[in-house]
Amino acid sequence: MTQISGVYSFCAGVMLQLIVGFATVAPPITAQTTAAPHLETSKPLTGTYKVSGSNGTTCLLASMGLQLNITFISVSQNKTVQDVVNLQPNGTQSSGSCFSSNASLLLTTDGGKTNLTFHFMLNTTSSKYHLSEVSLLAVWPDMKGDFSASNQSLDYLRGTSGHSYMCRSEQNLYVNSNLSINTFQLQVQPFGLTGEQFGAAEECQLDEDDMLIPIIVGAALAVLVLIVLLAYLIGRKRSHAGYQTI
Ligand SMILES: *[C@@H]1O[C@H](CO)[C@@H](O)[C@H](O)[C@H]1NC(C)=O
Ligand SMILES: *[C@@H]1O[C@H](CO)[C@@H](O)[C@H](O)[C@H]1NC(C)=O
Ligand SMILES: *[C@@H]1O[C@H](CO)[C@@H](O)[C@H](O)[C@H]1NC(C)=O
Ligand SMILES: *[C@@H]1O[C@H](CO)[C@@H](O)[C@H](O)[C@H]1NC(C)=O
Ligand SMILES: *[C@@H]1O[C@H](CO)[C@@H](O)[C@H](O)[C@H]1NC(C)=O
Ligand SMILES: *[C@@H]1O[C@H](CO)[C@@H](O)[C@H](O)[C@H]1NC(C)=O
Repeated sequence: MTQISGVYSFCAGVMLQLIVGFATVAPPITAQTTAAPHLETSKPLTGTYKVSGSNGTTCLLASMGLQLNITFISVSQNKTVQDVVNLQPNGTQSSGSCFSSNASLLLTTDGGKTNLTFHFMLNTTSSKYHLSEVSLLAVWPDMKGDFSASNQSLDYLRGTSGHSYMCRSEQNLYVNSNLSINTFQLQVQPFGLTGEQFGAAEECQLDEDDMLIPIIVGAALAVLVLIVLLAYLIGRKRSHAGYQTI
């Protein structure tokens, strides 16, 4: 009996160390990924955006938090500055269009001060889609002239028609030297939508990498449980043998 409870308290101790160890290791990892050198920016809120097709049904659905990392000439500072700005979902309108092999999502804020467009392409042979073009037109108070950036040769957010593309982790989409877009909690489906709902999700590599840590911890715990079980069985066999000889 004392042998068994000894094994239990040993294992409980090891588990505690694992949990405590994991907890003390975790904060630096998250701190590293969100650290911005001098700009203090919180994560953007997640917005849901829809595009309706010609017959009124939703043909493109997106749910995401967006952050613009933009470089422009500031009037007040008389120099090139870099700014990180979150898109506020409650002040953002969505529109766009859907065709058989391409679809677009246009997000507009503040009556046209920010116009962000995402173009998706579908390869009808392979049924694979991707984000092929991003363009941004911005007219912000401190900007010297209108800001415009676009790139038509992108290959991001790759998925299969009828399925949604999902990336819970922060993703950095480089557009050009003056613009990159950070996405958070993203799920998007530009093709093959049925009934206003996302199809089965195809998860991004970043999320799969994030899942590795819980899997490793889970595997370690499973091994511990096995050891406890073995120790218990051996202990029981021994005590059984003890009783039988009496
Ligand atoms: C609307 O159009 C899409 C194709 O653009 C089609 O798949 C869908 O079935 C149509 N829905 C209705 C209710 O007609
Ligand atoms: C913004 O982009 C610059 C490079 O252009 C990069 O050094 C910086 O880390 C980015 N900031 C964020 C918050 O993504
Ligand atoms: C802006 O900076 C340039 C040099 O970088 C200078 O020639 C110009 O006078 C400055 N303009 C103002 C309004 O300060
Ligand atoms: C959006 O929400 C923020 C707070 O989350 C609020 O400060 C702001 O006034 C809202 N804007 C609009 C256009 O509703
Ligand atoms: C579409 O996919 C097929 C098969 O993967 C490929 O051979 C073809 O080049 C692709 N077409 C375009 C326009 O990318
Ligand atoms: C457009 O994006 C591609 C892929 O990220 C990149 O290689 C290319 O340099 C970009 N074009 C410009 C003009 O920045």
